[in-house]
Amino acid sequence: MKFFVDTADITELRSLVETGLVDGVTTNPTLIAHARRQFEEVLTEICAIVSGPVSAEVTAIDLEGMLAEGRHLAKISSNVVIKVPLTVEGLKACHILAQEGTPVNVTLCFSAAQALLAAKAGAAYISPFIGRLDDVGELGMTLIHQIVEIYDNYPDFKTEILAASIRSPLHVVEAAQAGADVATIPPKIFRQLYNHPLTDKGVASFLSDWQKTGQTIGRD
Ligand code: E4P
Repeated sequence: MKFFVDTADITELRSLVETGLVDGVTTNPTLIAHARRQFEEVLTEICAIVSGPVSAEVTAIDLEGMLAEGRHLAKISSNVVIKVPLTVEGLKACHILAQEGTPVNVTLCFSAAQALLAAKAGAAYISPFIGRLDDVGELGMTLIHQIVEIYDNYPDFKTEILAASIRSPLHVVEAAQAGADVATIPPKIFRQLYNHPLTDKGVASFLSDWQKTGQTIGRD
């Protein structure tokens, strides 16, 4: 499973990239607003830090606007993936951009039918939003299972399933169990994946016992 970081915060991103576990980045207009920086400047920096796919979302809602913004953003770096919403205009834009050779991430997916359409439109990624479905009383993870089952039936579909709107480490684990190709993870949840109180306790206890031996490794 590939791990993307869901952020436009350069400091957070740099620190997570140091783990060697980051395969890509996703951004959205809300994350850019939180960063309080110029979109294209942040996007350029992110693309220099991460060599993997970096999703940049269009804000136009009409086809011509999406195409113009998508083509413009795609010129910023060869690893930019254009993010479009799962509307009919977004699907049309996806189809055209994909045919031009630009990878597209179709976002705001809330149903298996929508995911089927995105694959037919040639999306490189489909982003089902797990947390936001949970928020309205549906099981977000069920959607991941449905999309995995559908895409597995059609080997011609090359669309990768990108589990989005991740709210907990359990979401990441369950998305991996379901067979999602990618999880895009907020920095806080990313850190929760490797932090565990029993690991910290175990390290402290091993260290304390080791100090009692008076030994050092490789320095005797
Ligand atoms: C995905 O690409 C989105 O940026 C993100 O996962 C949305 O998550 P949220 O529901 O926590 O805003």
